[in-house]
Amino acid sequence: MRIRKLSEITLAAIMSLTILSCSKTTMPYSDVVDQKVDSILMLMTLEEKIGQLNLVTSDMDVTGPFIRKGYEEDIAKGRVGAIFNAYGAGYTRKLQELAVNNTRLRIPLLFGYDVIHGHKTIFPVPIGEASSWDLEAIERSARVAAEEASAQGLHWTFAPMCDIARDPRWGRVVEGSGEDPLLGSLIAQARVRGFQGTDLSQTNTILACVKHFAAYGAAQAGRDYHSVDMSERQLREVYLPPYKAAIDAGALSVMSSFNDLNGIPATASKYLMTDILRNEWGFQGFVVTDYTSIMELLHHGVAADTLDAARLALNAGIDMDMQSGFYNSALLKLLNEKKINEEQINQAVRRILRIKFLLGLFDDPYRYCSISREKETLLSNDNLLAARDMAKKSIVLLKNQNNLLPLDKNIKTIAVVGPLANSQRDMMGSWSAAGDWPNSVTLLEGIKNKIPGSQILYAQGCAIDDSNTGMIDEAVKIAKRADVVILAVGEAAWMTGEASSRASLDLPGVQQELVERIYSTGKPIVAVLMNGRPLTIGWIDQHIPSILETWFLGTQAGNAIADVIFGDYNPSGKLPITFPRSVGQIPIYYSMRSTGRPFDANNKYTSKYLDESNDPLYPFGYGLSYTTFDYGEVELSSSEITETDTLDISVSVTNTGKYYGREMVQLYIHDNVASVAPPVKLLKQFQFVDLKPGESKKMVFKLTVNDLMFYRDDMSYGFEKGQFTVYIGGNSRDVRTAFFSLN
Ligand code: NOJ
Repeated sequence: MRIRKLSEITLAAIMSLTILSCSKTTMPYSDVVDQKVDSILMLMTLEEKIGQLNLVTSDMDVTGPFIRKGYEEDIAKGRVGAIFNAYGAGYTRKLQELAVNNTRLRIPLLFGYDVIHGHKTIFPVPIGEASSWDLEAIERSARVAAEEASAQGLHWTFAPMCDIARDPRWGRVVEGSGEDPLLGSLIAQARVRGFQGTDLSQTNTILACVKHFAAYGAAQAGRDYHSVDMSERQLREVYLPPYKAAIDAGALSVMSSFNDLNGIPATASKYLMTDILRNEWGFQGFVVTDYTSIMELLHHGVAADTLDAARLALNAGIDMDMQSGFYNSALLKLLNEKKINEEQINQAVRRILRIKFLLGLFDDPYRYCSISREKETLLSNDNLLAARDMAKKSIVLLKNQNNLLPLDKNIKTIAVVGPLANSQRDMMGSWSAAGDWPNSVTLLEGIKNKIPGSQILYAQGCAIDDSNTGMIDEAVKIAKRADVVILAVGEAAWMTGEASSRASLDLPGVQQELVERIYSTGKPIVAVLMNGRPLTIGWIDQHIPSILETWFLGTQAGNAIADVIFGDYNPSGKLPITFPRSVGQIPIYYSMRSTGRPFDANNKYTSKYLDESNDPLYPFGYGLSYTTFDYGEVELSSSEITETDTLDISVSVTNTGKYYGREMVQLYIHDNVASVAPPVKLLKQFQFVDLKPGESKKMVFKLTVNDLMFYRDDMSYGFEKGQFTVYIGGNSRDVRTAFFSLN
């Protein structure tokens, strides 16, 4: 082993080089940073280098802020490059001091954490935020999360999750942006911008991590961690775009996924981690594994032992080992056995040190550890307001028969019923990480805040997920005394997220019985759904007059729902994922390909089920408002374009109802004839319009040949001349049509 003597003069000289402020989108690394990194690298022993590749969990969430035995020693000995699950300005400072004061080269630690939808101020779960289709609000949400997380000593979030998900049985649907590659890509970019800002060295920005690369959302049968098998075409058309978009937006770290893709575990996939990520897409950051993924190569059955697994991962292009400890135990041996070379290790270290430089950690390792900033920032009024705003915008109105909603604020007696009506913990949703659930506002509390003059009766009715029907009578009793019932049903937060796949999408426990018993009172009912995935709620759709999909809305959940129920906010959310009628329809998504035997009710030998309709319960892009919008005819600036033209597509949208409202106007394209069977519709653009009652606005979309490109029969990406259909509407089903050709 070569131990290089550290010359203090050399180190001081390196540290005193001025760090240039780097804009991530245009110049991720400056030459100065590269020079500094190389200078440090020259001073490092092999053990020190390998230590930088090691990411270990702290015990913060489990036992409070103390340092686990053995862990302290690892940090002090330079065997750890990064820590996750430790936060707090004081606590991270303590750990940072261990690294900086005890290691030879004083290389600071990187602190990562799952800051998924807010840090202390919890915002709606990601599928909820995605329902807003509001990129600015989503960016602001990530910005607030970054402000709070960085004030607690964090430098790095394991977000955004960019996995397209078309199988609601998969619990992690809640962490993503739904089924559509374009919407998923734009949201991924908004989140990266929100987390990273324009300058990573600012103390209020944090490094984003694009996960889970790749195609984790396509786990077979919706079972978490399961195999993924898909064509190159589907991978590139549907699953890769959001990861790529996030990287294009400047994200400088990527997490490998748990799954195998066509038999090769992502963590051992050179194709994904090097060929696509670095060589095709030009990614310049570092790649970290998911939790113990290198170790799991043994379970996948592609590695025989620790050495084998570490070799596969390093060769694939994995830079940092999360929690397996395999790099620490195996890389030196592998090097001695000449199974890897030192340059591979250098490369990984370089990528990690660059990020530490960009974050400004070499300037001041404690710059994110300010106790006073921590106090000012967490759960500030502004942050709570932003969370409430995001929460309102994330609500989707699924049904509103006879305009039951909005309710009159002078209503005398309201019964608030259901196992989710007063559950603070569930409002946080999954991955609320550092969020303190006692700060969250439940639906019951939100309603009390909104209409303090009314009589509010409350009964839980039943638990979320057990078989006890003993509390239902009490709920029926109070429902009978009320003018209207607000019924909160759905899933517990713990039933969604990682390791939370479900084979049934029905309401768990005896909730369906509760709903039917309340219905039998004949009272007007508003169903408030709280859940992390589409549920099969056909009965509710048929019988209950008003339905709000609220997902899990976070700290301000109850206030935001009350804003919508009582008309202070007119709902504008649209579903980012199709709601099936039954589990048997899965996968069901709007952009299916045309089949050779399209559905025909009168012909048995066409594509359909014997016992179920082909149609979803609610289509992608669907969501109502308290007002109504009328769409005029779609007008085109020309019926023919060439590849250099821009086509203006316009439509007049009129508010024909009584309320001021916001409509999200969606534009879809269908390629009528192509070398590859085209999707029946594909979202290409969308725009909000805000309209007063009676007001009309002309919405103009500018379409270019870029909107018409796809992976052709030979897998080249480009366009094909011919006829196209344009669809415009307020969801993917109810649309106006026009045609043009590309010559
Ligand atoms: C496992 C999860 O899959 C991943 O999303 C998360 O970031 C890591 N654990 C770290 O907590």
